Amino acid sequence: MIEGSQTPPTDTDPGWVGLLTYLLNSRGFDFNGYKPASLARRIRKRIEAVDAESFAGYQNYLETHPSEFATLFNTILINVTSFFRDPAAWDVVRIKAIPEIVAANAPGDSIRAWSAGCATGEEAYTIAMIMAEELGIDHYRERVKIYATDVDEEALNTARHAVYNERQVESVPPDLLDKYFEEVDGLFFVRKDLRRNVIFGRHDLINDPPISRIDLLSCRNTLMYLNSDTQARVLAQLHFALNEGGFLLLGRAETLMAYGHTLVPVDLRRRLSQRVGSVQRMERPV
Ligand SMILES: C[S@@+](CC[C@H](N)C(=O)[O-])C[C@H]1O[C@@H](n2cnc3c(N)ncnc32)[C@H](O)[C@@H]1O
Repeated sequence: MIEGSQTPPTDTDPGWVGLLTYLLNSRGFDFNGYKPASLARRIRKRIEAVDAESFAGYQNYLETHPSEFATLFNTILINVTSFFRDPAAWDVVRIKAIPEIVAANAPGDSIRAWSAGCATGEEAYTIAMIMAEELGIDHYRERVKIYATDVDEEALNTARHAVYNERQVESVPPDLLDKYFEEVDGLFFVRKDLRRNVIFGRHDLINDPPISRIDLLSCRNTLMYLNSDTQARVLAQLHFALNEGGFLLLGRAETLMAYGHTLVPVDLRRRLSQRVGSVQRMERPV
């Protein structure tokens, strides 16, 4: 049995604090803002798998077996995602958010979206398909920029490749699959016309400044892994990222919590809200 395996670790547990500090200093992953109980549960799985006996013992193991980092991060950072995940939420985006965003921007203006915590890219390409359908592919190509970010480089590499198997594209409506993917030997490649407006990059929601002037921000099923203080801090950053009138879409299990003064619900059930009130340009990050 791993030491203390029944209880969540605390900030006074030197093995735990040492391991988190080591992960930050050696690999740049800051897990301090995550919910300790579920984080520890996932790390303990790896401790058991490699037969280490404690957090400190596992740190020693990592020091001598660097390939374990990738397995650990795959266990902690859950990359589960799909195209059109929770389709009803995307219907609300299509019906309520996109027409307003298009109306608020002059025909020559760019439209900016951000998929934060994009995992392997399905969410970003979902936004791309919805935008291309609403604007037409020519206007999409001229006007739309979709930033897609994650802390996990491995997931981002998969996203950049933009190749998915048959099971992964099952949730793409058949007409959109025909239109926006090219099938080669059972694999589905996102077409270049759609892909080239999607810009992938590493971004840590907890520590990096947000991207700015966003019209549609999707941050789904990522906040839920963070503790409540960190969630509130990240939400404040997301709020900064939005243009006035910009929309924020969260995951089904996520809420705005106390952060309600300038983000008002558009569809509570589908977790779509909108930034109201003018944006103080001076106070905004780049
Ligand atoms: C469950 S996936 C959600 C994917 C997609 N948004 C969806 O809802 O289908 C959570 C993603 O959040 C990413 N993530 C975790 N912590 C993060 C952080 N601090 N900054 C940015 N991304 C993070 C993980 O790497 C993972 O890809």
